[in-house]
Amino acid sequence: MRKSARILSIYVLIYTVQAEKFCNIHSDYITGQCYKKEILASIPHSPNQLAVDRTSNVLYFSFDSGMGEYVPGKLKIGNNTLFVLKGIRDAFAIASDFATGDLYFGGSHGIYKYNPGLRSLKRLAVQNLDIWWLVIRRKIYFIKFPSLSAFKYENRSIRYVEQLRNHTVHQFVFDNEDNIYFINNTGLFGINSGSMEAHLLKDHPKFIGMARDNYGYVYLCSEDGIFVIRKMHKIKRVIGIQGVLGLTFDRNNNIIYSDSSEIVRLVAKEKIKIAYNYDEI
Ligand SMILES: *[C@@H]1O[C@H](CO)[C@@H](O)[C@H](O)[C@H]1NC(C)=O
Ligand SMILES: *[C@@H]1O[C@H](CO)[C@@H](O)[C@H](O)[C@H]1NC(C)=O
Ligand SMILES: *[C@@H]1O[C@H](CO)[C@@H](O)[C@H](O)[C@H]1NC(C)=O
Ligand SMILES: *[C@@H]1O[C@H](CO)[C@@H](O)[C@H](O)[C@H]1NC(C)=O
Repeated sequence: MRKSARILSIYVLIYTVQAEKFCNIHSDYITGQCYKKEILASIPHSPNQLAVDRTSNVLYFSFDSGMGEYVPGKLKIGNNTLFVLKGIRDAFAIASDFATGDLYFGGSHGIYKYNPGLRSLKRLAVQNLDIWWLVIRRKIYFIKFPSLSAFKYENRSIRYVEQLRNHTVHQFVFDNEDNIYFINNTGLFGINSGSMEAHLLKDHPKFIGMARDNYGYVYLCSEDGIFVIRKMHKIKRVIGIQGVLGLTFDRNNNIIYSDSSEIVRLVAKEKIKIAYNYDEI
């Protein structure tokens, strides 16, 4: 009886040490989730958007070419060989269409649509468009630069996103229920689906990036961490890391983020269950 308890305690110790080794980052959340930090690329990244093609688990991002334009790049997660996509000029904003697998790139030369399967590239027939932010949800939504107003592209024409019409919008996303969340220099705002009224949800900390995960939850980043919006507009910090500029999620809903020098994936480690019933030693 005693011996088996001792073996168990040694086992627990080893197991904990091993787990610690992979626990680069701890969740702030009550779950205490551990994450392994994987550096996907060491590259100064565009401070704006990242996207993953869920089918192939390929990450799309962009980086400063040093010539005033953002060059689109891609890498297959798990392989990490980096490719530059040719034919797209200034990919400041990037979004993927989960329904079709198409990737969209936007910048000072308008919007491009890329189909990785067919390797086809098209440019939307819209002139004089400088794109700051892209969202694909049944149609193409975007924020124009420098006005920072939100539009949608439908039937070859451009219209305001009515709910966002009177707002200065730095970034916005839809959650699963088509509620809209947007950020600007004042804070984070929410507009309930079917409503026109924007509510200030939080003005501190200052949120600088946002993304929707594979389940439709909205994540945000600030100077000091990554946050999630839960039901009833509750905002919780999930991870305390500094300098996150942009976010996305891979096929398995692992967080991918960029800071000023790297693109990183956080892989959630299995939660460690320790039995505390060995106190008879
Ligand atoms: C990564 O991808 C490249 C290009 O497709 C390929 O040549 C290389 O063998 C791959 N490496 C691994 C480790 O799979
Ligand atoms: C777009 O075009 C389709 C088919 O021509 C039409 O059914 C739809 O109402 C149009 N949508 C808008 C917003 O004009
Ligand atoms: C936006 O402002 C215009 C002019 O002030 C007003 O008529 C319109 O109702 C507003 N739209 C929303 C969605 O608040
Ligand atoms: C952010 O949006 C709100 C709601 O429209 C607006 O009152 C506020 O002035 C905006 N902040 C900035 C800095 O534009």
